[in-house]
Amino acid sequence: FNKIGIIGAMSEEIELLHKHVDVASQVTKAGITYFEGTLHDKAVIYCKSGVGKVNAAVCTQLLLDLGADCVLFTGVAGAVDPQLNIGDIVISTSCIQHDMDCSPLGFARGTIPFHARSEFPADERLVELAAAASDRLFPGHSLKGKVLSGDQFIASRETVKLLHETMQGACAEMEGASVAQVCDMNEIPFVIIRSMSDKADGSAHVNFSEFTVTASNNSYQIIDDIVQHI
Ligand code: ADE
Repeated sequence: FNKIGIIGAMSEEIELLHKHVDVASQVTKAGITYFEGTLHDKAVIYCKSGVGKVNAAVCTQLLLDLGADCVLFTGVAGAVDPQLNIGDIVISTSCIQHDMDCSPLGFARGTIPFHARSEFPADERLVELAAAASDRLFPGHSLKGKVLSGDQFIASRETVKLLHETMQGACAEMEGASVAQVCDMNEIPFVIIRSMSDKADGSAHVNFSEFTVTASNNSYQIIDDIVQHI
């Protein structure tokens, strides 16, 4: 890759990039600042998208327009697969927008009507690089799975059960499928890395506050390892 794009949704994630990337220039578009520089001698461009699917979509398109030829996303998520514990890693095999719902028109939940596809597959090579990184750094604490995105903070056991049983999700967050769709529309490879800050249940708001820093750190370590081995 000529220029690796890296996106985080929140300040916790971007501060880690500020610490590690040797920044050469920056540009602000649509209120989002893009930092260009090098990480492990590789050209990177990174930014903070802000929370939610609209922020993530605008951010990703501008990142691609600035020349990123692959996209790595780092962040935290609520665990949906019951095997996952706080701090564990999910590597996206694909992403779906769980809040896209035109079921009254006969479309299955998550289906984007009249669009080429609704489940966006991550790049196999990036997934394997992420899996190798996870095996090195957090052996036995990662899984590859489906990332579900929606403009909702999930904090109920019933919703988690629904997302796991009806959509086979591994984790729930608020940006991944949006980044994935924009990458897909531009034919650009991507992978979403998420570390679990909570279990998207009744304690999610408390756990999120307590574990976001640790989980952000875990996710960043995977990104750093991917960039080293890419
Ligand atoms: N990001 C971290 N935890 C989350 C949750 N429970 N729901 C949505 N996004 C999240």
